[in-house]
Amino acid sequence: MLHIEKPDPLKPLKYSLNKGDAPHRKLRNAKVFHNMGFGKGALSYEEALLLYTLVIISKPKLILETGSETGASTMHLAMGLAHNGFGELIVLECDPKSVKLTVDNLTKNNLNHLVTVKQENSLKYLAKTEETYDFAFLDTLIGIRMKEYDLVKPRMKPGSLVAIHDTLPTHPKGNMKIDQHIQEPMIHMESPRRISVVMV
Ligand SMILES: C[S@@+](CC[C@H](N)C(=O)[O-])C[C@H]1O[C@@H](n2cnc3c(N)ncnc32)[C@H](O)[C@@H]1O
Repeated sequence: MLHIEKPDPLKPLKYSLNKGDAPHRKLRNAKVFHNMGFGKGALSYEEALLLYTLVIISKPKLILETGSETGASTMHLAMGLAHNGFGELIVLECDPKSVKLTVDNLTKNNLNHLVTVKQENSLKYLAKTEETYDFAFLDTLIGIRMKEYDLVKPRMKPGSLVAIHDTLPTHPKGNMKIDQHIQEPMIHMESPRRISVVMV
């Protein structure tokens, strides 16, 4: 097994910011969640720790992430892999500036060797790939999130987990109607924008 020093998810990461701050500070229970200040769409610190924990519990060999922005979620998924001592992460991010920020932030935190950041449109990539994943985190645009789920579902190994961000029905950017769309068992974690974890 590859020896990698275990990262401490409670230690502050080094990072560069995208312009703009995380929105939605007026959402229910936003005040008791911590905004890491990574970027406009970045998850909260508590949601990032949830991703880290899901990775160290489920021990995936291959993770898929869609939408990295500045890499807040990416770094926490990668920290989980570093803790496990095996596994890799493929990230699909369509914006070249976000690809660069994500790679730079991974590099600053010595996590870049665990991650391949691809400048790709998630829907196009998932329609043609033959990869199979043990864990997925979906976080692009709310309007395409359920299409991403439909494309990724056949690529997931049985019993694996798909975490989906922004599932709150009253989310200011729209309602992806996850309960009407997804038949598999899932749990909704009640963070400000909500993160749902589906077992495929
Ligand atoms: C909400 S942000 C991601 C935040 C990030 N997961 C985090 O928590 O730090 C959404 C990102 O998805 C990217 N994106 C939007 N549509 C996409 C698509 N179809 N394929 C890949 N990336 C996409 C955007 O460029 C943006 O960087």
